[in-house]
Amino acid sequence: MKQLTAIMIGAGARGSAYAQYALDYPHELKFVAVAEANPERLAKFAGRHGIAEERCYTSWEQLLAAGPLADIAVIATQDRMHTEPTVRALRQSYHVLLEKPMSPEPQECVQMELAAKENDRLLTICHVLRYTPFWSAIKRLLSEGRIGEVASIQLNENVGYWHMAHSFVRGNWSNSDQSSPMILAKSCHDMDVLSWLMDQPCRRISSFGSLMHFHEGNAPAGSGDRCLSCEVEPTCPYSAPRFYLGEGMSWARHFTEGLTRDSIVQGLQETNYGRCVYRSDNNVVDHQVVNMEFASGATAMFSMCGFTRDQERRIQIMGTRGELRGEGSRITVMDFLTHEHTVIDIPEQASGHGGGDSGIVRSFLREVRAYGSGAESLTSASASVRSHLMAFAAERSRLAHGQSIDLDEYYRELTGR
Ligand SMILES: NC(=O)c1ccc[n+]([C@@H]2O[C@H](COP(=O)([O-])OP(=O)(O)OC[C@H]3O[C@@H](n4cnc5c(N)ncnc54)[C@H](O)[C@@H]3O)[C@@H](O)[C@H]2O)c1
Repeated sequence: MKQLTAIMIGAGARGSAYAQYALDYPHELKFVAVAEANPERLAKFAGRHGIAEERCYTSWEQLLAAGPLADIAVIATQDRMHTEPTVRALRQSYHVLLEKPMSPEPQECVQMELAAKENDRLLTICHVLRYTPFWSAIKRLLSEGRIGEVASIQLNENVGYWHMAHSFVRGNWSNSDQSSPMILAKSCHDMDVLSWLMDQPCRRISSFGSLMHFHEGNAPAGSGDRCLSCEVEPTCPYSAPRFYLGEGMSWARHFTEGLTRDSIVQGLQETNYGRCVYRSDNNVVDHQVVNMEFASGATAMFSMCGFTRDQERRIQIMGTRGELRGEGSRITVMDFLTHEHTVIDIPEQASGHGGGDSGIVRSFLREVRAYGSGAESLTSASASVRSHLMAFAAERSRLAHGQSIDLDEYYRELTGR
């Protein structure tokens, strides 16, 4: 099997997760250059992947100025730093694996889709769920007709109360002006899964939701700006020291490279991760619902909520001949005619996102090797633009007090086509 070469743009949490594939399967993939703004992360990535010093860059602009260096560009910078490097990399003939969301700007998503077509390159978006054994099994059961025609889907995205506080109140995706609205940052995966499972265009969409809890109006009496100096921290479910010095210690990697107790305490004193959840700079919603109607008349209901015990998705798919449920790692199918129950337990996966992190890289490498055969990637830019537009339309509806949005009209308005 031919070893493919890659460059990494943004060697943060996600970039490093995908790059693990090159360490696990060195005969398939080798990183030959890296751009990373954080010097510690840059050195760590270069060391792990044996990248020569002259191929280590502190910005993507510098790396791409060096001209084409490899077959593939993996782009895992933050949400608002996707479009420019992607378009430039495609023009330099790289096949691009791009983190979701493509961009918080709908026009830029369409622009990237076109750039991939114009430059005749693969642009695959990291909708990792589609590459997991769990979601692939659900898709296969629907394709086999096991529950007849899908009439309706309910999908719950349980964010987890601590994960809500970590990522969407204190963390990188707390403010849509710097990252993306919640429906894109977190739930573009859900829009994508619904679009994929339904396998038909979404026609209309409406949404409600708000930032109900995590704002100053709900700050308890006596609370302070930071947990470490807060009088009422012991009674707060969102205490940062309790989480990061306890069961959430591994999540402290987002604000300290060292992961010692001292470095975590220092991070809680200095970074946003030690701030009061009621006095952060967050503006994204903490709960949102979306209603969808698809071309056949089938419907879907989606609910994202930050106030949940577990961090997991739950799905119930109602078909004309049976019902499918997916929770945790278990899928059950009930047949209305025979009353048979089929239970499928998906084994625990070694790689992140239920096996999706390695699954997408494996699939992308296969597609790059077979490039020219005409096969489209499972999460191509075109497929992803479709599901991203559902997210953009849902957000537009939410901001318009739940007004229903016609997706075809919305697409025409965006593209003029
Ligand atoms: N697929 C998923 O399920 C999933 C999950 C979480 C996050 N994400 C997305 O992945 C992306 C990255 O998230 P993350 O958690 O890895 O963030 P991160 O902050 O850990 O990584 C981004 C990296 O980009 C680097 N960077 C900044 N400016 C740069 C520049 N000019 N040139 C090169 N590098 C630069 C930063 O130093 C940082 O290390 C985001 O778009 C996020 O929304 C996807």
